[in-house]
Amino acid sequence: MLNEKVEKALNEQINAEMFSSYLYLSMSAYFQSLNLAGFAAWMKVQALEELYHAMKIYGYIEERGGRVTLETIEKPTRQWESPLNAFEAAYQHERKVSGMIDHLVNLAIDERDHASNNFLQWFVSEQVEEESTADGVVQKLFMLDREMALRAFNLPPDLKINVLTAQV
Ligand SMILES: [Fe+2]
Ligand SMILES: [Fe+2]
Repeated sequence: MLNEKVEKALNEQINAEMFSSYLYLSMSAYFQSLNLAGFAAWMKVQALEELYHAMKIYGYIEERGGRVTLETIEKPTRQWESPLNAFEAAYQHERKVSGMIDHLVNLAIDERDHASNNFLQWFVSEQVEEESTADGVVQKLFMLDREMALRAFNLPPDLKINVLTAQV
């Protein structure tokens, strides 16, 4: 039988994973609106992964003879300032989720629920990957920005400019 407190927290985590899925699907729609089809596809896959996380917890509660309880899923943000801003938001969101998983593990340990602790360890590793992936995209976008900034105008030898009068 599943510990009552752990059951409640696991149900809350199902909701958080469903929200993650919703958030990334919303980011996918945002990227599609910018005609960034590749980014949109990436986010759609991410949304499916989050749905899988929710179903993994759902299945675990069932397996332990607990009761799955579904709540309202919060409305996700629709618009971001830039693609970089969206990925920064994704990274921050994953950090928040990692904190939630850590709390869940702490609870399982406090309640001496070793099975749930063991089950949750998969999510601990998964969050390390999730944070690293999102941060990796942020770093790539920053790198591209830095690279773009390096472009300099090289004066073609046939173009004579009088620097003092700025006349071509
Ligand atoms: Fe997740
Ligand atoms: Fe995630």
